[in-house]
Amino acid sequence: MIQLNTVAKHYSEAVHIGPVSLELPRGGITALVGPNGAGKSTLLTMIGRLLGIDEGTITVGGADVSTTKSKDLAKILSILRQENHFVSRLTVRQLVAFGRFPHSHGHLNAQDEDIITRYINFLGLDSIETRYLDQLSGGQRQRAYVAMVLCQETDYILLDEPLNNLDIARSVEMMKLLRRAAEEFKRTIVIVLHDINFAARYATRIVALKDGTVAYQGTPEEIMTDQVLTDVFDTPVHVITTEDGPLASYF
Ligand SMILES: Nc1ncnc2c1ncn2[C@@H]1O[C@H](COP(=O)(O)OP(=O)(O)O)[C@@H](O)[C@H]1O
Ligand SMILES: [Mg+2]
Repeated sequence: MIQLNTVAKHYSEAVHIGPVSLELPRGGITALVGPNGAGKSTLLTMIGRLLGIDEGTITVGGADVSTTKSKDLAKILSILRQENHFVSRLTVRQLVAFGRFPHSHGHLNAQDEDIITRYINFLGLDSIETRYLDQLSGGQRQRAYVAMVLCQETDYILLDEPLNNLDIARSVEMMKLLRRAAEEFKRTIVIVLHDINFAARYATRIVALKDGTVAYQGTPEEIMTDQVLTDVFDTPVHVITTEDGPLASYF
């Protein structure tokens, strides 16, 4: 379980996020949604201990994010930020291998190599594993980063807009993979999604943020209503019922 207890971030006099109190149960996919600037990345990077917490506490699987040693936390949670600043003169395989670092400390054994291969295959990167990151399309690079994060094999996985740069087919594929990771490997995934319809279709839970606080949370069925979405996104949204479940129309 991930627990946030009156968590806040104060960037400046004018901009602050929180206080947020939230419990995310173990297992499944929780989607964080909301307009630009709502605080999704701030919250996710605080959970992933990449951003300091100004107020409140966060625990992930019982470990306090502020006080647990980084090397111990790296075995509990992995995070993919919205922007990555990795050097591009790395091959796909070298990048994915970074995910093993908390376990291998730089000395990859045969088991690590097997795990790296497994996630390269899982993300469909086997034919390009020796390519450099700067020789890839945006979508291929995005999948390589996700492979790296999965390769860390943590119970908790935090992903900030991993569908960026992916076309429709690759986005669907990615969400199906993440569903499998949650179901087969019993991972708990928290994912920031830009597209509410992907959240509706693939998430088990949706948390909607607005102006730095949690506006709504619930199952996709509970969140996918005209009233909730119109309020969260500040524009008229109409929910249509389809055989694939509820879909938002906002044109
Ligand atoms: N490093 C920072 N310094 C100051 N303000 C920031 C910083 N990062 C984000 N913000 C502000 O905090 C708010 C929330 O940003 P963010 O968490 O990135 O939102 P989201 O991911 O939902 O788009 C925005 O108003 C943003 O401008
Ligand atoms: Mg963001």
